[in-house]
Parts: sequence; structure tokens; C-alpha cells
Amino acid sequence: MKKPMEGFKILFLSILFSLLLSNLGLATAQDTITPTLSIRDGDTIVSAGGSFELGFFSPGNSKRRYLGIWYKNISTTTRTVVWVANREAPLTDTSGVLTITLPGILVLRNATNGIIWSSNTTRTMESPVGQLLDSGNLVVKDGNNVNPVSFVWQSFDYPCDTLLPGMKIGRNLVTGFDWFLSSWKSTDDPAPGEFTLRLNTLMDFRREFYSYNGFRCHNGTDNDFQNRFMGWRLFYQDWGSNQSTKRVVLNPSGLVQGRLWNSHKIDWQNYFTLPTDQCDSYNFCGANAICNTKHGECECLEGFIPKSPMSWNQLDRTEGCIKTIPLACNNSDGFRKYTGLKLPDTSSSWYNRTMSLKGCEGL
Ligand SMILES: *[C@@H]1O[C@H](CO)[C@@H](O)[C@H](O)[C@H]1NC(C)=O
Ligand SMILES: *[C@@H]1O[C@H](CO)[C@@H](O)[C@H](O)[C@H]1NC(C)=O
Ligand SMILES: *[C@@H]1O[C@H](CO)[C@@H](O)[C@H](O)[C@H]1NC(C)=O
Ligand SMILES: *[C@@H]1O[C@H](CO)[C@@H](O)[C@H](O)[C@H]1NC(C)=O
Ligand SMILES: *[C@@H]1O[C@H](CO)[C@@H](O)[C@H](O)[C@H]1NC(C)=O
Ligand SMILES: *[C@@H]1O[C@H](CO)[C@@H](O)[C@H](O)[C@H]1NC(C)=O
Ligand SMILES: *[C@@H]1O[C@H](CO)[C@@H](O)[C@H](O)[C@H]1NC(C)=O
Repeated sequence: MKKPMEGFKILFLSILFSLLLSNLGLATAQDTITPTLSIRDGDTIVSAGGSFELGFFSPGNSKRRYLGIWYKNISTTTRTVVWVANREAPLTDTSGVLTITLPGILVLRNATNGIIWSSNTTRTMESPVGQLLDSGNLVVKDGNNVNPVSFVWQSFDYPCDTLLPGMKIGRNLVTGFDWFLSSWKSTDDPAPGEFTLRLNTLMDFRREFYSYNGFRCHNGTDNDFQNRFMGWRLFYQDWGSNQSTKRVVLNPSGLVQGRLWNSHKIDWQNYFTLPTDQCDSYNFCGANAICNTKHGECECLEGFIPKSPMSWNQLDRTEGCIKTIPLACNNSDGFRKYTGLKLPDTSSSWYNRTMSLKGCEGL
């Protein structure tokens, strides 16, 4: 009586085991890279839910090869790439191979085994796995651990020009780690271009502003920035598959665009664009002038005139305005209060907390 039962158990266990194995085998083929399973140019892996794909591609009219992540099931004429590994080190042929090496580092090599790009790790792992998650995040972890805390590396920490739901921008005030977007040089070249999008302060939503090289914008009094970027920056969140078709992109000309996939029109649509008008451009009107968002026009402050009327009339406002009568610092000079204005760039200003407004005027 005992023996057949034992046999049955063993049979049952081995069926279970082979089922488990075949499941593992499937998962491996689909969304993961292991030390025994590398990715060559032409191969791709697809996230478990089918939202994202990782592989080699050539952007725009370029012939160069890059390792990147794009939307799997969005069929526009051009691929929508959301992340690129070897942005600054393109491959010149289709010899690229992505592997994961034993301490847990993703390595991209060329035909002569030269390292083109690699990830990073602070930990040694026994069975490192690279996995493309359905959020578009490429992660390195030990074995089958799915706890985000156990990720030793993730592409979400190294954004290119695209912010996906669950990614963040900002600075870790403890470690100083800075998450920011940088534009592509052009649609043919994903190397870091002219513009970056960063958060300068993390503590106070209202005082946050975003800045590009030579371009600044500050929406001072409301939570506009917070509303638009809500959920994009603070923590990793599980948004469900709905959200995988929404992104913020910093394009090569410095525009920040919120893009939403419209499955009826089968195309991306803007749900916001920054800057909203020319008044958002840093120093658009020059010194001592106001940019009026109603008309998109520059106006000198009261008592000021254009420094160079000629260029001012030709709509070049960069020289700004000067006082009609030089400051005499006698009783005919004083302070005037303006309301409804955003503050100028105060990122390198200081103020005296103990001084009153009257005290300041008296100086
Ligand atoms: C992509 O595929 C996923 C899973 O099948 C689905 O939930 C999602 O709606 C698809 N997205 C688009 C834009 O078709
Ligand atoms: C491969 O990469 C290495 C290191 O970047 C480089 O020296 C070598 O020329 C490359 N080989 C080819 C065939 O591109
Ligand atoms: C890996 O991390 C170390 C320490 O954080 C850093 O110095 C190094 O530049 C990183 N390497 C790469 C390839 O990112
Ligand atoms: C900030 O931007 C929003 C939307 O563009 C606008 O409604 C609001 O008036 C702006 N706030 C200021 C202080 O300009
Ligand atoms: C997807 O969106 C629809 C409509 O906005 C919503 O009813 C549904 O709960 C969402 N599903 C997920 C998984 O977020
Ligand atoms: C202030 O100084 C200006 C220029 O020196 C002079 O024209 C004006 O009369 C002075 N006003 C008073 C109130 O002293
Ligand atoms: C700040 O203002 C107070 C009060 O007017 C003054 O005593 C102090 O010297 C000022 N501090 C600085 C650094 O200017």
C-alpha cells in the first residue's frame, strides 16, 4: 500500500517541478536577461504585460545602433523610444550584445568585446537577473525577488529625455543623487543635447521651479507645477497598465511636452506644453521690465524707458529698460508696490529674515 503512494508522490512532484521549470523558462525568454541568456542586435525582450520592449534600434535617419526601450504595442510610423543605454557611445554596426555578468552588471559589448556601456552595482549577487518591467523600468535584481527595494540598479534612476509614470525628477537631499531629464541632441542623435529639466528644491512645492540652460520658468503662487507633474516625481507607484501610455518628454528644442496616447486617433497628443508662452522664457523682457501674459508683451516698469528704443521697437527686448531720471536718493525716490507678478529668479538671492519692510526701505 505504501509503495505505490510513494511512487505517485514522486511522479506528482516531478510533474510539478517540470511545470515550474517550464514556467520559469517561459518567463526567462520573455522579459529577462540572465548570465546564460544575452541579447543580440535583432533580439528583443518584452515586459510581462506587453507594454514595453527592449532591443537595438537606429533613431531617425541615423544608421548607428543603440540599445533602448520603446512602447511595444503602440504603432506609430516611428518607434516611441523612452530610454537609451549607450546615448553617447553608439555602435557602428549590428554586433552589439547585452549580457549580465556575475556580480550583477549589465554590459553592452561590440564586435571586439569592447565595453560600450555598463550599469552599476554596489552588491554582489548570486543569480543576477535583468528584467524589463511593464512600467518600462529595466531593473537588475537577485533571482526572482520582485521587491523594488531589492533592485540594485534600475533604468528609472538614469532618465534620458522621457519621464514615465513612476519615475521621478528631483534631488535626494541625503545622498545628493540627482534625477533629471536631458534632451536628445536631435531626433537622429540621443546623446545629451542642450536642455536639462531639473528640480532645484524638493522641500516646498510652491517654490519649486524648473530650469533649462539659459531658460527659466517659475509658476510662483499656485500649485500648477505640482498639478502637472503630480505623481511623476515623488515615489515609485504602481499606476496599473492604464498609465503606461502617458509620458513627459523634453524635446531637442527645449519644449517640455506632456504626451498622452490617443487610441482612437492612433497618435500621441499633447496634454500640456511648457513654456506656455514667451513670457515663460527666462529674461525675455530684460532688466526692469514686465512680461504681460495677456498680450505676451513687454512693458517697462513705471519711471523706466527702453534702454535701446531702436531694438525694443524691433521686438528685441534683451537690453531691458533704464530709469528716465537717474536715482537721486532723495525724497523724490521711493518704493512702488507691484502685484500679480511672479518673482524674478531668486535662486542665488539672499534675504535678511529679521529685517522689516520699513527697515529695508529706510536703508
Ligand atoms: C498595450 O498592451 C497592454 C497589454 O495587452 C494593454 O493593456 C494596453 O492597453 C495596450 N496599449 C495600447 C496603447 O494598445
Ligand atoms: C569596440 O569598443 C572598443 C572600446 O570602446 C573600441 O576600442 C573598439 O574599436 C570597438 N570595436 C569596434 C569594432 O567598433
Ligand atoms: C558606479 O558607481 C560609482 C559610485 O557611485 C561611481 O563612482 C561610478 O562612476 C559608477 N559607474 C558607472 C558606470 O555609472
Ligand atoms: C500658473 O500657471 C497656470 C496655468 O498655466 C495659470 O492658470 C496660473 O495663473 C499661473 N500662475 C501664475 C502666478 O502665473
Ligand atoms: C483605467 O482607466 C479607466 C478609465 O479611466 C478606469 O476606470 C480603470 O479603473 C483604470 N484601470 C487601472 C488598472 O488603472
Ligand atoms: C532730488 O534730486 C533731484 C536731482 O538731483 C532734484 O532734481 C530734485 O529736486 C530733488 N528732490 C527733492 C525733493 O529734493
Ligand atoms: C539684518 O537686519 C537687522 C535689523 O535691521 C540688522 O540688525 C542686521 O545687521 C541685518 N543683517 C545683515 C546680515 O544685514
